[in-house]
Amino acid sequence: MCGIIGYVGRRPAIPILVEGLRRLEYRGYDSAGVALVAPNDLQVTKTAGRISVLEQMVDFSASQTTGLGHTRWATHGAPNDINAHPHTDSSGRIAVIHNGIIENDRALRTFLERDGVTFKSETDTEVIAQLIGRFYKGDLERAVRQALHEVSGTYGMAVVCADEPEVIVAARKGSPLIIGVNHDEHLLASDAAAILAHTKHVVYVGDGEIARITPTEYRLTTLDAIPVTKEIEEVEWSLEQIELAGYEHFMLKEICEQPTSLADCLRGRIDLREGAVHLGGLVDCTRELTRAKHLILSGCGTAWHAALVGEYMFEELTRIPTEVEYASEFRYRNPIIDDGTVVISVSQSGETADTLAAQTEAKQRGALTLGVVNVVGSTLARQTDAGVYLHVGPEIGVASTKAFTGQLTVLALMACYLGRRKHMSPGAATEFITALSRIPKQINGIIEQADDLKVVAQRYADRENWLYLGRGYNYPTALEGALKLKEISYIHAEGLPAAEMKHGPIALITEGMPVVVIATEGIQYDKIVSNISEVRSRGGSVIAIATEGNKEIAKMAEHVVYVPETLEPLQPLLTVIPLQLIAYHTAVLRGCNVDKPRNLAKSVTVE
Ligand code: AGP
Repeated sequence: MCGIIGYVGRRPAIPILVEGLRRLEYRGYDSAGVALVAPNDLQVTKTAGRISVLEQMVDFSASQTTGLGHTRWATHGAPNDINAHPHTDSSGRIAVIHNGIIENDRALRTFLERDGVTFKSETDTEVIAQLIGRFYKGDLERAVRQALHEVSGTYGMAVVCADEPEVIVAARKGSPLIIGVNHDEHLLASDAAAILAHTKHVVYVGDGEIARITPTEYRLTTLDAIPVTKEIEEVEWSLEQIELAGYEHFMLKEICEQPTSLADCLRGRIDLREGAVHLGGLVDCTRELTRAKHLILSGCGTAWHAALVGEYMFEELTRIPTEVEYASEFRYRNPIIDDGTVVISVSQSGETADTLAAQTEAKQRGALTLGVVNVVGSTLARQTDAGVYLHVGPEIGVASTKAFTGQLTVLALMACYLGRRKHMSPGAATEFITALSRIPKQINGIIEQADDLKVVAQRYADRENWLYLGRGYNYPTALEGALKLKEISYIHAEGLPAAEMKHGPIALITEGMPVVVIATEGIQYDKIVSNISEVRSRGGSVIAIATEGNKEIAKMAEHVVYVPETLEPLQPLLTVIPLQLIAYHTAVLRGCNVDKPRNLAKSVTVE
């Protein structure tokens, strides 16, 4: 869950490395460092804290044209100056940066210590550096290959050596790694955002591959030294898309982008006249998909919440039994996968370790595996049998917002696509996609109420416990609202199916406790109204998300936020927007770092 970057070329490396680290900071931000190589010289600068701290320490006039940079999310050893990357071997001539977890580091460390090696840090990464140092006999690529034969675990890593100042050796197993191709220079990064300012031409390093990179060439081989040829691909995102564009935070920018990002997500995929959905990514597997007897949706965090809405949609529109699974549980519970099982993995980054492993498990057991992914070219996109991209553009804020509504939109499109091949009439499909096509504009109307939502945040930002309640399609939305508040404002919040309250959680309610209730029109409206009175009779302060025109509810709630009317399966696309904004404004009022909340990272590439 770290960010790594490398540069080997003709230009001074340090400004390129630091700018790249700034763009990777959302991947991990508890410590950072750089290594610069020149003939017979290796300089390492590293520190606990953000990139802004490292920037104070590095010499921007340094002329070295080869270097590595790393921003960390600690797994082994506390975030401090010693455990920060890069790590060097005992000779101090080899430096390593690493994203991932070495599982046999303890055994290797004991072996190396018995061999006289003294370790400086508590990290698993230093074990790799010491191993490479042990094997190094003048050929860095060879030493890295020998070292990796001893290592088990996951890595996206890069190595430099003072004896080979124009060479970077990199390797990948489980953690993302791309090479940026340019004239007379090459870059290396965990994701495209870090190198977009220099090139859009990239090569995706595959699992089990080693890359030897110089200013003029890159060479890919397997761990067993078999040459690998890879195509150079073009990244579709622009630099502008990963800039703040005048917003105070990426999260606010991405919330406000949703009318456009969902329009992009729908573009070319719905035919209102025919009542048809077109998903090019599913064409080759449509026959098998239509024969599906059992659907399983898998993901983590926000993606799991989207999958939960997807479960309701697929069952309603296709009548195929559908389950939703936490990927981290699914991969270890000996899941029942038989002929006719389709597993749909949902992930913004396409790099979440548990989601990848669950997909691999399902595939090995014979399921058709599909991906719902945002990052083009990501590992999940390349290892699933087929899939659908969100096309909502890069999401930088750690708290997922536009990717969530993008995931809901794609799952709605897939459910309708499959539903039309099952029992859904052309009329029902037309009504469904017509309502879907109105969502981007309807969201715009909600975003215009942002100031009212700031009032709600001002009123309750000091409360340490919140509850979120919803029914049916809006139960997952309640979970998502609670997660947004938790992850960026550090307030303890719980999302619940409203009817579950009476079975225990209602005991939590005290005078003035904020309780967000999603009470939009629908088959369970009357039930949710009685849940509201249960809350109020225990002194809870109700913040109701209601359907425009519902005057009655204003008498039952301290605050009412209105959203336009739409079909029940699509309501989460509208009701989540006020919840995103309430969480955002509450976090800002509490002085939290909205885009880089403590202890989190944008993509969880380790188990
Ligand atoms: C959501 O705001 C969080 N960043 C987190 O729960 C996230 O949804 C989860 O880690 C899954 O990430 P993915 O969609 O990239 O797989």
